[in-house]
Amino acid sequence: MFWVLLTTLLSLTTALQWTDSLTNNTVITVCSASDIQLPWNFTLSPDERIEDIKWIYRAEDGSEGLIAIFAAGHFKPMPAFTGRVQWTGQGGIVVSQAAIAESGNYTVMVSTDDATHPLVTFSKTIYVHVADPPTAQSGEFHVLQEPDAVIDNTTGQWKVELTCGVLTSPGHPAVHVVWTTPDGHTVESSSEHNGTFRLLLPNPPSGGNYTCTLPPLSPATRCLPPLSPLLEGATVIVDQVKASFTLLEARQQEMEKNVSAENARLQTELDALKTRLDAASTRVSFHARLQSGLSNFRGRLQPFNIITNEGDAINGTTGIFTTPRDGTYFFVASSTTLSADKYVYMHLMAEGRSVAFTRARRYSNYGAAATCHATIHLTVGERVWVESGASDTYYGSDSTSFTGFLLGADDW
Ligand SMILES: *[C@@H]1O[C@H](CO)[C@@H](O)[C@H](O)[C@H]1NC(C)=O
Ligand SMILES: *[C@@H]1O[C@H](CO)[C@@H](O)[C@H](O)[C@H]1NC(C)=O
Ligand SMILES: *[C@@H]1O[C@H](CO)[C@@H](O)[C@H](O)[C@H]1NC(C)=O
Ligand SMILES: *[C@@H]1O[C@H](CO)[C@@H](O)[C@H](O)[C@H]1NC(C)=O
Ligand SMILES: *[C@@H]1O[C@H](CO)[C@@H](O)[C@H](O)[C@H]1NC(C)=O
Ligand SMILES: *[C@@H]1O[C@H](CO)[C@@H](O)[C@H](O)[C@H]1NC(C)=O
Ligand SMILES: *[C@@H]1O[C@H](CO)[C@@H](O)[C@H](O)[C@H]1NC(C)=O
Ligand SMILES: *[C@@H]1O[C@H](CO)[C@@H](O)[C@H](O)[C@H]1NC(C)=O
Repeated sequence: MFWVLLTTLLSLTTALQWTDSLTNNTVITVCSASDIQLPWNFTLSPDERIEDIKWIYRAEDGSEGLIAIFAAGHFKPMPAFTGRVQWTGQGGIVVSQAAIAESGNYTVMVSTDDATHPLVTFSKTIYVHVADPPTAQSGEFHVLQEPDAVIDNTTGQWKVELTCGVLTSPGHPAVHVVWTTPDGHTVESSSEHNGTFRLLLPNPPSGGNYTCTLPPLSPATRCLPPLSPLLEGATVIVDQVKASFTLLEARQQEMEKNVSAENARLQTELDALKTRLDAASTRVSFHARLQSGLSNFRGRLQPFNIITNEGDAINGTTGIFTTPRDGTYFFVASSTTLSADKYVYMHLMAEGRSVAFTRARRYSNYGAAATCHATIHLTVGERVWVESGASDTYYGSDSTSFTGFLLGADDW
């Protein structure tokens, strides 16, 4: 037990000791095009000897490889790093002209041997962040209060909006501006689009200075030149009364829009009602007399002289009544035969079927009159006419008439 402890203690105190301050997994940030300083340093125990030292990288994009190797007293950069890497003694190297793509883990591996240990490897890894500063369209931020309020899509409320921009590049890793409110709080932007950052002020808005700045500790910010105006940020002074007025105005305009939309809706409804009312108030009634006498005639009686035609349903030329409104109608057809031994032989026809029939014949000088009538339900477009069903007929012009009217419409 004692022996094991002693051996462990001995090997600990005699082995390689790191003397630099880069503890494992430290993160360091360097700006692109500058140097990556990796000042790893160590001391060896008296009988310890360096076998070799290797420097390795493993980049974010997955590429990895050897940077340089130290062996047999010689430092040798790998071809990809020739001219870019310098040895600064012990485990230290400097890689110049850092590129964004070279962000990643950098490892030093020192292999040593001594009398008791044939080959021991010690390693340390740090993370190197290669950062790029952001750039702005005119070299500085422009911040302003938008003249018009905007609708906050998450709450549906009108809000005063501040914008800050324009970053043509957000740098690497990308930075986002933060806002300092008049009460000293730091808040994130509400949204960002194409390098312009927007902040929606709470409702009601507080007046005072709003400043948009870059987070000072962000690697990209730290790569800005010391005098860059971007480090200062930009301030807009919000006037509380004016801001509240802007909101009031936006709500007023929305209300006006709503009112005119509601007006338009009502007008449409009213127009539809008017159309219905017009249709509902259309009266239907007609009276027609046969234009000239028809002798030995079989078929639809026509043409008629129109006496009455409310609702324009009877066509005098054809003698056809066409139903303009659904409803119940009453029709009468009457005739007197004025020719010896001839018939009046009439059908009231609705859509081709007979709904009433009458017949009369004149003997010597005794005139004969006939009438037929029907009360029937019709739908729009259905047709009604008077038809002569036999050929040994005579229909007098003055004495033959066709009458009808709407008794009651379905839609009123
Ligand atoms: C770097 O090392 C850390 C800690 O071991 C690890 O989480 C990370 O994935 C490594 N990154 C790369 C690019 O290898
Ligand atoms: C390495 O560390 C030793 C001991 O602390 C010190 O004397 C030496 O100057 C250091 N070397 C470098 C290159 O920093
Ligand atoms: C650093 O981490 C590596 C891998 O985890 C480990 O092998 C090594 O001993 C560590 N070095 C130090 C000095 O802690
Ligand atoms: C709200 O949504 C509309 C449509 O999607 C968009 O045009 C508008 O910019 C959004 N407003 C805000 C403040 O995000
Ligand atoms: C984004 O901004 C740049 C200038 O910074 C402009 O040229 C480009 O048209 C913008 N793109 C969109 C989609 O707004
Ligand atoms: C607001 O900013 C203006 C100039 O930008 C400055 O004069 C004023 O003192 C600031 N007010 C506060 C309360 O910080
Ligand atoms: C305007 O109409 C929309 C949708 O109907 C409604 O959400 C909103 O509250 C109305 N605005 C006002 C000011 O009445
Ligand atoms: C009556 O019907 C005839 C033949 O179909 C047509 O030419 C005429 O235009 C119609 N008259 C009316 C007033 O609709």
